[in-house]
Amino acid sequence: MPTINYTRPFLYPYQLAILNSKARFTVTIAATKVGKTASHIVWLFEQALKCKANQSVWWVAPTIGQAKIAFDRMKVQISNKDLFTANETNRTITLITGAKMEFKTAEKPDNLYGGDVYAAVYDEYTRGREESWHALRSTLTSTGGKCKFIGNAKGKKNWGYKLAIKAKSGDDPNYEYFKITAYDAASAGMKTKDGRPFIEEIEDAKKDLPESVFNELYLAEASEDGSNPFGLQYIAQCTYPLSDKPAVCFGTDLAKKFDFTVNIGLDKFAYVSHFDRFQKDWRQTTETILGLPVAPLAIDSTGVGDPIAEDIASKRDNVTLKVFTQRSKQQLMEGLAYAIQRREIFFPEGMIREELEAFEFEYTRTGVKYSAPEGTHDDCVCALALAYSIWKDSVNMGSISIW
Ligand SMILES: Nc1ncnc2c1ncn2[C@@H]1O[C@H](COP(=O)(O)OP(=O)(O)OP(=O)(O)O)[C@@H](O)[C@H]1O
Ligand SMILES: [Mg+2]
Repeated sequence: MPTINYTRPFLYPYQLAILNSKARFTVTIAATKVGKTASHIVWLFEQALKCKANQSVWWVAPTIGQAKIAFDRMKVQISNKDLFTANETNRTITLITGAKMEFKTAEKPDNLYGGDVYAAVYDEYTRGREESWHALRSTLTSTGGKCKFIGNAKGKKNWGYKLAIKAKSGDDPNYEYFKITAYDAASAGMKTKDGRPFIEEIEDAKKDLPESVFNELYLAEASEDGSNPFGLQYIAQCTYPLSDKPAVCFGTDLAKKFDFTVNIGLDKFAYVSHFDRFQKDWRQTTETILGLPVAPLAIDSTGVGDPIAEDIASKRDNVTLKVFTQRSKQQLMEGLAYAIQRREIFFPEGMIREELEAFEFEYTRTGVKYSAPEGTHDDCVCALALAYSIWKDSVNMGSISIW
């Protein structure tokens, strides 16, 4: 049988600790970009080196896209390209020894049953399905294979969190728990991709992100609020009866196909003093908005709302058109999250509060995505965020005096 000369690449001590663990199952909850995937690619390769011809190790990720990323990274990582062949369709890498590394999606647990697996990594497991772990577990039975779980903290109401708690408790000697914060990585000497100290990136993120998001993504601490970017406790602290003072600015979210048009007005202390939510035809919608008291108004003009928003802007002074992109929505929602966490905005019980409580963030490769869960609405949240942004701008420009 051919032999492969192998030198382990440089790994930070916190990465080595996981790789060297004696436990059959390791569960690692870590900050983002600290080298979870990188270190586990090294580990899986080393496990494959121990395998004989036709024995397999698996990389499992929540989606095909994520499995493909690891597959591509593994191919780059093996410096001697003569040591393996790759099958792009099946995402399989076969070493010259005949051992196989397979990169799989956790989307369909049924596809993970069958076969004997000698070692496995479940990457981003807190975003993957539990049933897939059950399927994966069955493939490790006859081989006594090891499995390593890696992921970000993601709320407390899910199997991923429970598995981490079980590993952390130490009750089962087969499990060992690891936690890596961004500060651990920074003090170990981690750099950003463009070569800056990691700590700079952390400090920037801390400024940009709502506290609960930062805690999960950088401190690896599951938040009580799950993926609510505002914080349930802060939402409660900002809940006040509707103000009877006049509105000094408005935020309007126009109805798309299935949802509602919402107008929210804030008084000069940023208490909600006007709230209406309706489904009307476009003519009536325009009339209702034009009928709002004279004050600066920010309106969502994304997609189908655009002509109506422009019509309003042509007939009313001081209208700001906002087009939502993932980036601009993120900024708007972060502004609202800060306001809520600093108790700078106040809203009544009912729809507004309920939508804020149901709101979620999702961490994607292109940034943090904010939205209402499937099948629910976020038009109150958007209108509130728009109203707050215009309120803040007006205060900054001195056109609202809060003194
Ligand atoms: N030991 C190391 N030495 C040098 N660079 C490393 C090391 N470990 C990781 N990196 C680099 O750090 C970056 C982040 O690594 P990786 O993608 O593995 O992190 P992650 O924790 O899986 O991040 P994510 O949260 O995106 O899943 C990559 O550019 C990777 O090449
Ligand atoms: Mg990763």
